[in-house]
Amino acid sequence: MVAKDRKSYYHVRVISMPGRWKLRSVLYLIVIACFLVLSLTSAYGQSGAPGAQIKLPGPKHDGTVSVEKALKERRSVRVYKDTPLSMGEVSQVLWAAQGITEPSRGLRTAPSARAQYYLTVYLLADNVTGLRPGMYRYVPAGHTLSHVAEGDVKTALYRTVGQSPIQKAPVVLVIAGAQDRAANANFMYVEAGHAAQNVYLQGVSLGLGSVVMGGFDPEAVSKTLKLPGNEKALYIMPVGRK
Ligand SMILES: Cc1cc2nc3c(=O)[nH]c(=O)nc-3n(C[C@H](O)[C@H](O)[C@H](O)COP(=O)(O)O)c2cc1C
Repeated sequence: MVAKDRKSYYHVRVISMPGRWKLRSVLYLIVIACFLVLSLTSAYGQSGAPGAQIKLPGPKHDGTVSVEKALKERRSVRVYKDTPLSMGEVSQVLWAAQGITEPSRGLRTAPSARAQYYLTVYLLADNVTGLRPGMYRYVPAGHTLSHVAEGDVKTALYRTVGQSPIQKAPVVLVIAGAQDRAANANFMYVEAGHAAQNVYLQGVSLGLGSVVMGGFDPEAVSKTLKLPGNEKALYIMPVGRK
């Protein structure tokens, strides 16, 4: 009886060998398919259709450059290296502009009159590793990017404004203000100044250069970027490696 059982056991094992190989081949194929999908995604960059949300890497809260050194070295920089920015650098610069630093109350890196936060920061990405060229809205809650439009929006902005740093920079920030919400229009202008200075100082710490640009027709810029009707472009800041 025992011998018979053993026989049937061996019988089952012999029969199941090809099945095992089939299973293994299927698993190998799944692993290869996953690898291909992952490499294609990283080659083309994150994000899909407009409206997609992209999680940014978490910002760092310490660095090696003191505030005093950053203030001393801050300069308007209009010429950039022709190299991409990383998602980490983009994340850090956006966090410096409008990142949330006190989640319980939603307070941010830059001050705001009555904590009303009139600003929206847009990212025009041209050369960022892992991010498709296009226009994105920075969403402080959750530290994400919301995909607004695909393609070379930056060149369209350059044609509208005509200042060469916009064309050369790997990314351009556009700081817009909600003119319908600002009880006093001055509030949104001064708030933009705070956010822009943060970007300048964060840039020094990362070895990135930037310049604030106010010399443009806000209506023409709104039209080019198809900004929501209540928003006014206040500052344009190209950012790139020094
Ligand atoms: C309100 C404002 C608007 C500015 N607009 C422009 C501009 O359109 N284009 C530009 O290249 N620089 C612009 N700048 C940058 C100034 O030219 C720059 O800050 C100034 O030359 C001093 O140099 P620094 O920033 O290196 O100290 C602007 C600065 C401010 C404060």
